[in-house]
Amino acid sequence: MDNRPIGFFDSGLGGLTCIRPLMKKLPEEKIIYFGDTARTPYGSKATSTIKAFSNEIAEFLVSKDVKMIVIACNTVSATCVDELQERFPQIPIVGIIQPAACKVADTCGSGNNVGIIGTKVTIASGEYERRIHELNSDVNIYQTPCPAYVPLIEEGIIDNDIMDLTIKYYMDDFIAANRIDTVVLGCTHYPLIEKNIRRIYPDVKIINPSDVIVDTIERILAERDQLADGSDAQNTFYASDLSENFINMIEHIFSGETEDAKVKFKNFDLEKGE
Ligand code: DGL
Repeated sequence: MDNRPIGFFDSGLGGLTCIRPLMKKLPEEKIIYFGDTARTPYGSKATSTIKAFSNEIAEFLVSKDVKMIVIACNTVSATCVDELQERFPQIPIVGIIQPAACKVADTCGSGNNVGIIGTKVTIASGEYERRIHELNSDVNIYQTPCPAYVPLIEEGIIDNDIMDLTIKYYMDDFIAANRIDTVVLGCTHYPLIEKNIRRIYPDVKIINPSDVIVDTIERILAERDQLADGSDAQNTFYASDLSENFINMIEHIFSGETEDAKVKFKNFDLEKGE
């Protein structure tokens, strides 16, 4: 048993999509989340920049004595999960791509055309395809970047025609030309537009890595005898720019009951260290 918090990070608020499934499945666990809202989006940045930012954040989380780090960001997972694991060998570091790849490999076969959507960096890395094919080479994989989704989602432009048109702009031809029957939401921001995608493509099955990763977290903590049995600690959400959107999203996750749910928000400037 270990009541220390689990550390999560993402380039912004996208990684918060992992929090609700985690709280549902493992309600005793406490969380420290870091959203790099001042520097988001990562998905079109150079890999050297993403590595430098991720190292800073991992160091910050380790300094908070977390028992595990969850990289709730596909872009970071596609760029430097192995490097972070080597740098912090004392702590399990879980990327979001591998659990999702296992889910695709387990549930899809040669009859499936699976479409991976993600940021430019995630798609260019080919990590989804590589990891899925390592486990099941029969699945047909197609990929396309959707770089305009993250800025729109971070701005809260979700339930309207602008978002729907943007989805169609990136996905209409992709789905039709490749006869995609399954879409993997290969960016943690995309579950926030999952219902738009379902409405526009009702026949397509959707795999949401933010749901899938919770099973991996549970398995690793159980293997290490580190599942929590409840503590009074607070869930703490740090942001490098504590924006209104970020706080609104957390309020939304906790259904406006952040006080009862013991949540606190903090601004943290990684460069200044305060
Ligand atoms: N939410 C992140 C991901 O899963 C990155 C989005 C971004 O910063 O571009 O890829």
